[in-house]
Amino acid sequence: MNKRSFMHALVCSTLALAGSAALAQDNVFKIGLILPMTGQQASTGRQVEAAARLYMAQNGDTVAGKKIQLIVKDDTTVPDMTKRLAQELIVNDKVNVLAGFGITPSALATASLATQSKTPAVVMAAATSSITEASPYFVRTSFTLPQASVSLADWAPKNGIKKVVTLVSDYGPGIDAERFFKDRLLFNGGQVLESLRVPLRNPDFAPFLQKVRDLKPDALFVFVPSGAGAAVMKQFLERGMDKAGIKLIGTGDVTDDDQLNDMGDGALGVVTSHHYSAAHPSALNKKFVEAFRKANKGMRPNFMAVGGYDGMRVIYEALRATKGVGGGDALLAAMKGQIFESPRGPIFIDAQTRDIVQNIYLRKVVKQDGQLYNVEFDVIKDVKDPGKSH
Ligand code: PHB
Repeated sequence: MNKRSFMHALVCSTLALAGSAALAQDNVFKIGLILPMTGQQASTGRQVEAAARLYMAQNGDTVAGKKIQLIVKDDTTVPDMTKRLAQELIVNDKVNVLAGFGITPSALATASLATQSKTPAVVMAAATSSITEASPYFVRTSFTLPQASVSLADWAPKNGIKKVVTLVSDYGPGIDAERFFKDRLLFNGGQVLESLRVPLRNPDFAPFLQKVRDLKPDALFVFVPSGAGAAVMKQFLERGMDKAGIKLIGTGDVTDDDQLNDMGDGALGVVTSHHYSAAHPSALNKKFVEAFRKANKGMRPNFMAVGGYDGMRVIYEALRATKGVGGGDALLAAMKGQIFESPRGPIFIDAQTRDIVQNIYLRKVVKQDGQLYNVEFDVIKDVKDPGKSH
């Protein structure tokens, strides 16, 4: 072969390779999963990624003739980074779907990109009510803080808790929790003595807890994001708040299954309301928890994991329903209205709001087989996000 025909052969084979790569590309369905794998919310990233991978391991990586490719990106819990990564995933990787979003500001930072590119974006973790209104391409499989908070405000006054101080992280989900808990408690004849807000970044709870002690409420209602609950619990106990007769209540973010077992017996008896407990007594959940543990060195799934697992189901079923040939709008349409049994119980993606409708459970921290769990003792069925009833 002379040099010229060698070059010719090389060019031809490179083009052929590119051609077959393009063909392979056609048969690939890409999910851009943006998560906080490092930084303050790293536990959320760890849980959601593990759940997404478990879903794929259990359900295969080929749907409607397409090979599913999961592209995981770490936004380091920085919303500007989420936005940059989303842009790269849309423009360079040409992802079919975006997913993840560990915190509200990360989801909101991506809203306009999802809208402009008509890319469905499955919110698996963030939980401020308004997120789904920020883009018509958002679909949520996590929960909303109003959804979780109102049921606790119904429970509290019936159980001797009339005077409450609220303590929340000072951003979207905290403000939702504070507002919806307070409004419902007042409606039920209770009282909020004071509403305290702590910074999201590196909060020091001590001065706030001192204030709560002085106010002597029946209970302290807390929302902090997943991963921050153990610090609240530790300082609550160290300051002897429980001994001073103040109960700790909150959304289930505080007694997060990712941390609960390490919180110690001081957490026993804490009542929270939420959509998921690793102790949810269904056959499906038992299988889920066992498989998750097995695949992740004994790690217990938390509510973030279930948001990721169900988010993958929503994506898989949308791809199946559109027979692998649908664009963003067709996929979005196929995500709306999905109804199925999740490890948390029955769930439904409301076609109007693209938000999740689900059971909210009242739970109490109990020791079972030497381990701390949120054990469900009551259920409010099919709760829509109260943030959208206006
Ligand atoms: C949020 O930023 O929306 C968020 C994060 C963690 C939670 C709940 C909500 O546990």
